[in-house]
Amino acid sequence: MGQGDWHVAEGLGVVKVLGAMAIAAAVVGMAGRVVGLTPLPELAFGLFPQNNNRKKKKKVRVYMDGCFDMMHYGHANALRQARVLGDELVVGVISDEEIKANKGPPVMSMDERVVMVSSVKWVDEVIQDAPYEINAEFMNKLFTEYKIDYIIHGDDPCLLPDGSDAYAHAKKAGRYKQIKRTEGVSSTDIVGRMLLCVRDRPTNESPVHASLQRQFSHGHGGSPGTSGGVGTRVSHFLPTSRRIVQFSNGKGPRPDARIVYMDGAFDLFHAGHVETLKAARAMGDFLLVGIHSDQIVSANRGLNHPIMHLHERSLSVLACRYVDEVIIGAPWEVTKDMITTFNISLVVHGSCAEENELRNREIDPYKAAKAAGIFAEIKSPRNITTSTIISRILTNHEAYRKRNQKKEESEKQYYLSKTYVNGD
Ligand SMILES: *[C@@H]1O[C@H](CO)[C@@H](O)[C@H](O)[C@H]1NC(C)=O
Ligand SMILES: *[C@@H]1O[C@H](CO)[C@@H](O)[C@H](O)[C@H]1NC(C)=O
Repeated sequence: MGQGDWHVAEGLGVVKVLGAMAIAAAVVGMAGRVVGLTPLPELAFGLFPQNNNRKKKKKVRVYMDGCFDMMHYGHANALRQARVLGDELVVGVISDEEIKANKGPPVMSMDERVVMVSSVKWVDEVIQDAPYEINAEFMNKLFTEYKIDYIIHGDDPCLLPDGSDAYAHAKKAGRYKQIKRTEGVSSTDIVGRMLLCVRDRPTNESPVHASLQRQFSHGHGGSPGTSGGVGTRVSHFLPTSRRIVQFSNGKGPRPDARIVYMDGAFDLFHAGHVETLKAARAMGDFLLVGIHSDQIVSANRGLNHPIMHLHERSLSVLACRYVDEVIIGAPWEVTKDMITTFNISLVVHGSCAEENELRNREIDPYKAAKAAGIFAEIKSPRNITTSTIISRILTNHEAYRKRNQKKEESEKQYYLSKTYVNGD
C-alpha cells in the first residue's frame, strides 16, 4: 500500500455532519494503514469556529511530517499547533527504512506509529511512508497531488546526515511555517525514565543495561551536573491550565447520551490503548476516561511507575479522538456513587492489562458495576503493554545507543542556542 490510497481517504474525509463519528471510526478500521479521518464535529465547530464562516472559501491545507516514534503529548501538541495554522492537517509518517537510515531503528513499527498519529484528534489525513527529506520532487507532489498550501515544522533543527536542512526546499519556495517546540519532553527523556523504572529489578541488571542507562541518562534539559545520576531524572514538563484547555473538547454529553466509562494508568500511551479506547467509544455516545493517580499506579505496578506522570498521561489521552472527557486522578474503585454522579451506562475494562500488577486482588474495582449489570470487558486488539515497549528498548540496546548519541548532540545544540519563541 502506498500514498495512492490517500485518494480513497480524501473522499471520505469530507464527511462533516453530526454523528460522523461512526463513519470516522469505520474509516480507521477499514484503512488501517493509510487513513483519512474526519475531525469530530465538536472539534470542527468548537475549537475552530472560523470554519463556519469560511465554508465557501478554499480550505488551507497544511502538512507536517515526523517519525512519531514513542509518541507523546509533545508530538500531539505539535500537531495541534500545526492544525491551527490551517483548516486541514495532513501528516506524513516517515517510513521505517528512512528512520533507520537517518537516525537508527524506530522502537515502534510503521503500523503502530500510523495508529498513534491517526488517533490524534487534530489530524485529518495521514500519508504513510513519507520520506525523511522533503526534496523538490516530494514537495511538488505535496503541492499538486495533495493540495498542500504550507509545510510546517518545529523550531528545532532537522538535519540530514550531510548536515543540510531537511526543509530547505520548502523554505526557499516560501511555503514553510514554523511552530514552537513543546518544552519539557522528548523521546530521549522518556527512554531515560524507562530505564530508571527497570533498574531495581535484579534480572535486568546486566552490563547491557548499565551501558544503556549511561547513554540515555543524559537526556536534554538537565544541567550537566544533574545528568547521569541515577534517580535524578525529573520531568521538565510544567502543566498549565491553558494546555489542558487546549487539549479538551470543552463539551459535556448530550442529555440522552449513553456514557461509557473506562479507567486505567494509560502509561506510555500506545497503540493498544488507542484501539481499546476506540472499541470503548463505539459502545456508547460519550467516552469518559478515568486516569489513575500516580499513587495508585505506583501501588499497583511498583515504585518506579508510572513513567509518565498524571498530567502527562492525561494530555495523551485527551489528544485521542475517541475520548470525550477525562477524570484527572480517578479512584481505583468505580463506586456506585461515581456511576450515579456521571450517569455512567457502561463500565469497560481492557483484557490485556499489565502482567506485573501487584495490586490487591481482594478488592474488585468493578464490583459495583458488575452488581448493576453494566460491566463489560474489551478484548484488546493488540498485546502491546508498557512493559513490552521497555523490553524492546532493552533488546535493541546497541542500535538505540547509537541513535541516541546523534540525537543528544542536536538536542544539546538546540538548548544551547535556544531563545524565547512566542506562541502556544
Ligand atoms: C442518563 O443516561 C441515560 C442513557 O443511558 C439517558 O437516557 C438519561 O437521560 C441520562 N440522564 C440524565 C439525567 O441525563
Ligand atoms: C503479540 O502479538 C504479536 C503479533 O500480533 C506476536 O507476534 C507476539 O508473539 C505476541 N506476543 C505475546 C506475548 O503474545
